This record gives sequence, C-alpha cells and structure tokens, in this order.
Amino acid sequence: MLFASETIGGRNLRTRMEKVRLLFRVMGVRIDHILLPVFFSFLIALFSGVGLGLLIPLVKGLSSGDFSTVSDMPILGRALTYTLAVLNASDTSNQIIFLVLIGFVLAVQVCRNVILYAQLVYNAYWNGIFRKRIASGMFKRYLSFGQQFFDRESQGKLQTTLAYSNEVLWLLNVIQTTSASLFQVLARFVVMLCISWQLSLSTALILPLLYIAVRIKANKIRHISRERREAHMQLARETFNTLSGITLVKSYAREKEMADRFEALTESFRKLDMGAQSLYALAQPAQELIILAAFSLIIYFAGSVFEGATIESVSLLVVFLYAANGMLPQFATLGKAGLTVADLSAPVGNVIRVFDDEGKFQVPQGDREFKGLQHQIEYRDLTFAYQEDQPVLQELTFTVQKNTTVALVGPSGAGKTTILNLLLRLYDCPERALFVDGEDIRNFTHQSLQQHIAYVSQEPILFNDTIRYNMTFGLDRDVSDTEVRDAAQKARILDFIESLPRKFETEVGDRGMQLSGGEKQRLALARALLKGAGILALDEATSSLDSQTERLIQEAIDEAVQGRTAIVIAHRLSTIQNAEKIVVIRDGRVVEEGALSQLLEQKGFFSKLWQAQQFY
Ligand SMILES: Nc1ncnc2c1ncn2[C@@H]1O[C@H](COP(=O)(O)OP(=O)(O)OP(=O)(O)O)[C@@H](O)[C@H]1O
Ligand SMILES: [Mg+2]
Repeated sequence: MLFASETIGGRNLRTRMEKVRLLFRVMGVRIDHILLPVFFSFLIALFSGVGLGLLIPLVKGLSSGDFSTVSDMPILGRALTYTLAVLNASDTSNQIIFLVLIGFVLAVQVCRNVILYAQLVYNAYWNGIFRKRIASGMFKRYLSFGQQFFDRESQGKLQTTLAYSNEVLWLLNVIQTTSASLFQVLARFVVMLCISWQLSLSTALILPLLYIAVRIKANKIRHISRERREAHMQLARETFNTLSGITLVKSYAREKEMADRFEALTESFRKLDMGAQSLYALAQPAQELIILAAFSLIIYFAGSVFEGATIESVSLLVVFLYAANGMLPQFATLGKAGLTVADLSAPVGNVIRVFDDEGKFQVPQGDREFKGLQHQIEYRDLTFAYQEDQPVLQELTFTVQKNTTVALVGPSGAGKTTILNLLLRLYDCPERALFVDGEDIRNFTHQSLQQHIAYVSQEPILFNDTIRYNMTFGLDRDVSDTEVRDAAQKARILDFIESLPRKFETEVGDRGMQLSGGEKQRLALARALLKGAGILALDEATSSLDSQTERLIQEAIDEAVQGRTAIVIAHRLSTIQNAEKIVVIRDGRVVEEGALSQLLEQKGFFSKLWQAQQFY
C-alpha cells in the first residue's frame, strides 16, 4: 500500500491534477474503483430509460385500445414474441400483451433497484476504506513533521483538518454523481426524443438558462463555505487554546472574557452558516421555478407539435413531462459538478497541504544504524538558528566522552535546551556540525539514535493515561513489574506511587495535571531510567521544589548519571560538582569549559555564577 511519509514526500504540489492524483494515491484508489460505480450508474440510467420508454407503447396501446403494433416494434417486439413463447401463450390478445408489458416494466424496475442497492453497498464499503486510509495517511504525515512545524501550527487546526479529512471523498463522489447525472440526462433525453424531437429540442433550449443559474449559485456557495470553514478552524483554535491554558485563564479570572470571545466567534460562525443555509434553501425553490417555467414553455410548444388534443397525444405529453421532470434536476447536478472539479473546496485544500512538504521541517535521516556510543559526542563549530538570521547557537564546540557527565550551565535563553534538541534530532542541524563517534549525526536513522538516548525534558511530558503507561511508553520490549518498580525506586518516586490507591494504574490526567511538579519530574526520570539507554540527556527543571523533594531528585539524578554518558543542563550544585566537565554557555557560545576547580580558578563568568549560586 502506498502511504504518505515513505512514498509520498519531497514534493511541491502545483497543478490541480497532481494534487488530485496524490490524494487518490494516498487513498489507494484504483481505476476500477472509479469505473465500476460509473458502470453501475450507466446500468441504472439504462434501466430507468428502458422503464420510461416502455411507458410509450403502454400509453399508446391504452389510448388506442390496440396493442398489436407492439409486436412490430424492433427490440420490444422480439422480446414480446420470446416471452410469449416462453410463457407458452398461444393467445396474443391485447390483454396478454398489456400484462406482459406491465411485467417488463416491473422487471426493469426490479433490476434497476438491485443495481442501485449494489452500488450503494459498494460505495459504502469503499468510502469507508478510503476514509480510513486518508485519515491514517494524514496522521502518519503529522508524525513525520519536525518539531518546528508543531511549534508554529495550531493544534486545534491540525485536529480539525484531520476530522474533516474524509471530505476529500468528494473528489471521488463527484466523478460518480457527474457520470450518473450524465447518463440519466441522456437516457431521459432519448425517451423524450422518441416522443417528439421538436419538443425535445425546444426543451434543450432551456438548458443553458438552468446551467447559468446553477453556476451562479454554486459560485456563491463555494465562496461562503470557504469563509465558514475558516471560521470553524478559528473556533477550534480558540477552544484548544482556552482549554489547554485553563489554569492561566482561571488564575487571571478571565473566564468571562474567554466565554465572550468564544461567543463572538460562534456568532460570526452562525452568521456565515446562516448565509450558506439560506443559499442552500434558495436552491430548491429556484430550481423548481426554472423547471416550472420550462414546463409552461413545453406545454405551450406542445400545442403546436401535437395538433388536436387526442387522448394519445395528451398521455404522451404526460410521459414527456415526466421524463423532462426527471432530467432537468439531473442536468442541474451536472452543472454543479463541473465547479467542484474546477476548484477543490477548502478542506480538500487543507488536506492536500498536509501532503505538501513546504514548511513541514522534516528532519532528514540517514541509513546508518547507531549501535550505542563507543567514544564521544562532538559538537563542532555548530551554528544553528530556529528562524533565519537569528542564530541561537554560534560556532559551538565541545565534546562529551563516553561514560562521563558534562554539565551545561548558563543564563536563561543561552541556548542550552537547543543543544539537546539537536542531539535528539527534534530539529535538523547543519551538516558536519554534530558528530557521534566521528560520524555525522545526520547519517544515522532516527530510530536507532532514539533507542540509545534517554531524554528528560525541562517540562515533563506526560500522557493522560496511567503511571505505568507513562513510565513504559516507547519501549520496544516487555517490561516486568519488578523492573518498573525498580526504576520508580531509583527515581525516588516508588513510595509515592505505592501510597496511591491504584498504585501504578493511577491515571495522571492531561499532561499529568493530577501530579505535583516534583512528582512529574521524578516520573519523567523514572521513564528515562527504564529505557536503559547509554546516553542520558537531562534538562533539569528550574522550578524550585521544597528541600525534601529537591534532595530526592538530586539523589536520583546523581545516581542516574553513574555509568552513563550524560549531558545535563544543570541547575543543581551537586550535578555540577559531580560532572567531569562543565561547559558554560552564554548567548549561544561556549565561553568557558573545564572541571569545576579549573573554572573557579579562572575567575571568569562561571565563577561569578558560582558565587551568586545562580544557575538558570
Ligand atoms: N522553537 C523555537 N523557535 C524559535 N525560537 C526558539 C525556539 N525555542 C527556543 N527559541 C529561542 O532560542 C533561544 C535559546 O532557547 P533555549 O530554550 O535553548 O534556552 P535555554 O538556555 O534552554 O534557556 P532556559 O534556561 O531558560 O531553559 C531563546 O532565545 C529562545 O527564545
Ligand atoms: Mg531550557
């Protein structure tokens, strides 16, 4: 199966056809998925036409009281003779022919409905599969994007786009509805031609009028629906913002303001929606009025076409109008379909943008397998910027030897977290600037690198799930309960977990809201320990904790770095004291580097920090 990130990437989609083709590839649409429903539509239209056409001999026979001419008709006549032979009917009275004709009409309708059913089931089945494929294809793409994409994009919007992803099925449906309408129009028009070509041609004169009306309306609807979608996205973003920042909202008592803002957004959404609804509402009556006008014209013309109103001519006129009544709305659908193809609607555009590589900040990877650190990690003249022309790290150079601890210290905003972000490949770094055992980090696969690095972020990241799930997240192996307990013990969190009624099965809430800051930090540390990776990247949290918790965390960290290669962004004295090397970062540069005693002797920037005992 063709799926997003591996096979479809590295492209800037330009032409419409390219975009459509791409979506079809993501959904795995084959040519038969398109042709079969079209064929179904063809059969359905064929049977509708035949059913309608059969009314002509029926009406003629009934009004003249003579069905004998039916036997002389080309196809119907043969079908009749054949059926009579099968039925073994020697009698060919009017009544028998009439009954056989009725039988034909019924049989045709049964066939038509069976095919209709088959088409519906077929569509439901495949639409379900396409819907699933497009959603998981998109989700896979999301996961492949770089951290920087998520730094910039609204999560509410990403969610909404995913939720609306199935609207791209439109593209498929439009092919179906168009072909269905086209066949229906043709089938009915043929029947109409059989009744009267003059009348049929005059009806056809009305078609351009109907077409123009439909296009004007569809244009308006398209415009409004785009605005409505945008309003909806904004609403989603606002909801996400407010709910995810609820603590801030509450602590500033901004509930009313947020509620008012939400209300204002829903109000503007309501107005746009109302506009769209009233346009939709207008569609039906407008169409009916145009069709009614058309009918009046047809009847007016009919006067001259059928000279003298016989029962037969009036009955045929009724059949004609019946056919026209079915044809005109189908023709209107045809007019709309063209517009859909000409301009993909807003959600389709959003979905397509997900598959475009522009602005996704995907972090490239090589094919080398990282098997664990042998010698050293080396930052070599590394310059990095999140945004163009605003370097955060400049000509940064330092090494981390295997099984040693390097403490990064420096003022807030100096670029310490960024240094770890690059090692973790959350952001792409320049070529030949970061080496692991002498190999450019860009040459390794992400998977193999991540396997050997355990990361504890500045703000602990926890899922809304159980403690056990959070601790064992991302591990490829099965972990025993003893192992989990052991890691919890080492992270000094075991006693706390044991004191909870549900212990390791306790749910922690969104982002671990039900835990204290210190508990979250220790849980994150426990997760890193459980990973058993050789490299530990630790961004010590700056939030100050009570001395008891502080001591627990300090002990846990001191123990965790033993026998590992550790890069620790250090705020704690003990971490700094225990480090083999301290690298002092200021404004994205290494300003001092060495063991604690060396740095203190230098009496430079670090010694000032040390005296003030301030390590941000
Ligand atoms: N995702 C981002 N996009 C753009 N700029 C960023 C991003 N993350 C950080 N920065 C900027 O890069 C600079 C370095 O940030 P970094 O997080 O590395 O600092 P830090 O040394 O870890 O600070 P602290 O001690 O406060 O955690 C800051 O000026 C920050 O504003
Ligand atoms: Mg930081």
